Amino acid sequence: MDKEELFKKISDELEDKLHFLDDKPEETIISTINALWFKAAGIPISAERAVNLSLPDLTENQIIYLSELIQMRIENTPLAYITGRQNFMEVELLTDRRALIPRKETELLGKKALQLSRELSDPDKKIYVMDVCCGSGNLGITVAYYNPNCIVFASDISQEAVDLTRENINFLNLNERVSANQGDMMEAYDKDEYRGKFDLIICNPPYISSSKVQKMDVEISMNEPMAAFDGGMLGIKIIQKLVHDGPKFLRNAGWMVFEVGLGQGQLIHQLCERTQLFSQIKTVSDGSDNIRVISVQKS
Ligand SMILES: C[S@@+](CC[C@H](N)C(=O)[O-])C[C@H]1O[C@@H](n2cnc3c(N)ncnc32)[C@H](O)[C@@H]1O
Repeated sequence: MDKEELFKKISDELEDKLHFLDDKPEETIISTINALWFKAAGIPISAERAVNLSLPDLTENQIIYLSELIQMRIENTPLAYITGRQNFMEVELLTDRRALIPRKETELLGKKALQLSRELSDPDKKIYVMDVCCGSGNLGITVAYYNPNCIVFASDISQEAVDLTRENINFLNLNERVSANQGDMMEAYDKDEYRGKFDLIICNPPYISSSKVQKMDVEISMNEPMAAFDGGMLGIKIIQKLVHDGPKFLRNAGWMVFEVGLGQGQLIHQLCERTQLFSQIKTVSDGSDNIRVISVQKS
């Protein structure tokens, strides 16, 4: 069977066996097959990167391996956990079960964080950035990758996530400017040397209410770490903590920028206002006019 015939056969088979999630818009039949094909060929790349590449030839053993990978995907193993890669802001990252798969929607936060980091720094002025709730390290790492004037301190309550972040730091050769440590929120940096020191704090916190977490799609609930989603009874427990504790670590006029869940924007905006800790509160909305990112500047 030639490549085109094999591709068509797999594509016909997958047509009604796969369902795609709204928060992984980069995954389609074509990008899924391409990414699994490259994985079978011994070239792990993300769906986003694989989609536009021409497919390599496969040996007979690799074709057998490809059918095993396809079976895993049919049985709901997330694509990025099979390939071991996810693309975030055009950067290829390592992914596995130790942390949440970075989502396309979080690029809104990543881009805002990068923009702020560029406004705050220049080659003569290195800035200190904290990535709280770092997961795989995607946010802090991409900001450091694109802005050489950033020194990034990442942290997550999950030691496994911190381990994966460290592997991503190595993978991208960012050891000199990015480090990761385990801790509850900003606890890992709760020392005199860090308080009032940060120019920018970035956070993509868990913000789904506990009752909704239990109803998430099986592909997510059976595979991705629940601590990445559960924001307590109302979904805003971690965000409240961030808004309350973050300013202690910011220098005066430093910025904090974070993602919020669908429908939480107005409430969190008010919550930030009520603290009277911030001189500016700004929002970024997605293409459907939902507030998804809030940035606040310490007074
Ligand atoms: C929504 S995920 C974000 C991961 C990654 N930053 C991203 O954008 O894909 C939230 C992360 O927060 C971590 N987390 C949950 N509770 C935490 C806490 N109290 N302190 C620090 N990290 C926490 C989880 O382990 C998870 O990695």
